[in-house]
Amino acid sequence: MSFYRISNADKYRTAYQQSVEHPETFWSDIAGHFTWRKRWDKVLEWNFEQPDIKWFRNARLNITENCLDRHLADRGDQPAIIWEPNDPTQANRTITYRELHAQVCKFAHVLKNNGVGRADRVCIYMGMIPELAIAILACARIGAIHSVIFGGFSARSIADRVQDAGAEYVITADGAFRGGKVIELKSVVDDALEQCPFVKRVIVYSRTDTPVSMIQGRDVWWDDELENVHNAGYADFPAEEMDSEDPLFILYTSGSTGKPKGVVHSSGGYMVYATYSFVNVFQYNPGDVYFCTADIGWITGHSYIVYGPLCAGATTVLFEGVPTWPEADRFWEIVDKYKVNILYTAPTAIRSLMAHGTGPIEKHDLSSLKVLGTVGEPINEEAWQWYYENIGKGQCPIVDTWWQTETGGILISNLAGVTPHKPAHATLPLPGVQPILVDDKGNEITGNGVAGNLCIKFPWPSILRTTYGDHERCRQNYFATYPGLYFTGDGCLRDLEGNYRITGRVDDVLNVSGHRIGTAEVENAINMHSGVIESAVVGYPHDIKGQGIYAYVILDSHHHDEKLTRLDINQTVSRLIGPIAKPDQIQFVTGLPKTRSGKIMRRILRKIAEGETENLGDTSTLLDPTIVDEIKNGKL
Ligand code: WT7
Repeated sequence: MSFYRISNADKYRTAYQQSVEHPETFWSDIAGHFTWRKRWDKVLEWNFEQPDIKWFRNARLNITENCLDRHLADRGDQPAIIWEPNDPTQANRTITYRELHAQVCKFAHVLKNNGVGRADRVCIYMGMIPELAIAILACARIGAIHSVIFGGFSARSIADRVQDAGAEYVITADGAFRGGKVIELKSVVDDALEQCPFVKRVIVYSRTDTPVSMIQGRDVWWDDELENVHNAGYADFPAEEMDSEDPLFILYTSGSTGKPKGVVHSSGGYMVYATYSFVNVFQYNPGDVYFCTADIGWITGHSYIVYGPLCAGATTVLFEGVPTWPEADRFWEIVDKYKVNILYTAPTAIRSLMAHGTGPIEKHDLSSLKVLGTVGEPINEEAWQWYYENIGKGQCPIVDTWWQTETGGILISNLAGVTPHKPAHATLPLPGVQPILVDDKGNEITGNGVAGNLCIKFPWPSILRTTYGDHERCRQNYFATYPGLYFTGDGCLRDLEGNYRITGRVDDVLNVSGHRIGTAEVENAINMHSGVIESAVVGYPHDIKGQGIYAYVILDSHHHDEKLTRLDINQTVSRLIGPIAKPDQIQFVTGLPKTRSGKIMRRILRKIAEGETENLGDTSTLLDPTIVDEIKNGKL
């Protein structure tokens, strides 16, 4: 099987031009490399007003036939997944394409036996074990819509998502190993499901032997169910034939309002774009071993651990643990152990490993590496150089891949070894992607050496189709700010050579360790603490996390022990959202800078949190300008 492959700079230019001038031909050629039950009768129909976007109209397929079945003849015995357990002294697992196919088919039977059908929503809350990938693929095989919830989210966050998706089925594990800790997943799910009485079935995989409560009539063990399938003699599970536009999955992500939105991705377009971008950005070659360190609970794991690599017939490494346990050399140990050729990680991980010096690296042979990648947030030059010199030994191109949960795949990035990298720049759009910078009024900013808000003016196959259960919200959020354009929420520079450099969010969304967190969500959680009257949350530069969470909090008069109250607030946020949303700094204040109409002037709070004391801008419109001095003086 071959893929549409852009293998040198000339081809990049030609492909880009063709993708703009003849997008339908361009995408039809690429889509032709996949297995379809029935071809499309039209490549693209779209308008950004509704929005209404259809790729590969009336085409029929199942993505798992592309991830699994079609590899059986040529690479059935090649490893599809290499799984490295949390504890390096435990046995690892290698799962070939043939084995993965068999396991997905068996688990698809389990789902069917438990009542799951086409278009049903299934929430998945598991650690990084092969069964997570198997569960996802089995959902796709039977046409159910999976919604994976990252293992760091709280019971309350799970309940919100299960309710929003109307998911009657949940797949989880007793627990998950993460470094020295065991996360009690099933227990968290049990708390969540108290708010979700409509859930009919919970399938539980046993990973940690953590004691769990199994509710009669609702909860079943993964292994028991598999045994039933086995005893019934089932082997294959014919894939459901899906429409190209049938939803493949929902993934919740934070926005500028308090409630996360369920980003919906399609089957056909998502498959084509995830695979096309995987092959071209990383310049994947057959036989390469590829290691993406993300969690499958985020979009990076969906597109670039599971779907993209498997559709391309790659060998993808799945790592259960954390980079610093038992030692800070875990990534390098894995690279050495499996002779990893392509490593894809996040700036926050690079910065935290930088702090351990080069000692942990020197213990390992990293000479198998050919390509390095980063994703999730802007990478600072220092971290880029460190990654380039110490990990890539000055030999490996670094792809700085800019994209979002909503884009489904990488939109702006250099192509490894094909187009040049430039530290801290995502560089150029992939063929098929048409970025545009606009000012606050929506006027296009042309030319080079300019800055603006990043929008995309033409659809690509893996653009989100809607937000689950609320199409208007999707329109408002992404398509209404600048009519006729998809608005990313990011600020961006275009340098003199036309390279794009993402500067960060321009909305009230934070990017903490590469994870998106809405300020309103954190404020809502802080305000739930009984002693809190009001709060305002902003981001500030953080050495490791990129952005840290800074909270200004007004307490009622009953709370005197500030230290304990801080811990209580953190505990509250942890309970309501998850540990990832805990504020790094909590400053108690007696008031917030508000305009006469009651709007909090976040600009001022942001500047103070950043350590700026002088140029706070115009404060004359504030109801009480003296509060600014108080806040400045109390800065942590
Ligand atoms: C936001 C999307 C896409 C997977 C991980 C995050 C920021 C992402 C880069 C990059 C600068 C980046 C943007 C974007 N971002 N990649 N290479 N350079 N910023 O997915 O949670 O949907 O967040 O992450 O601000 O809007 P996400």
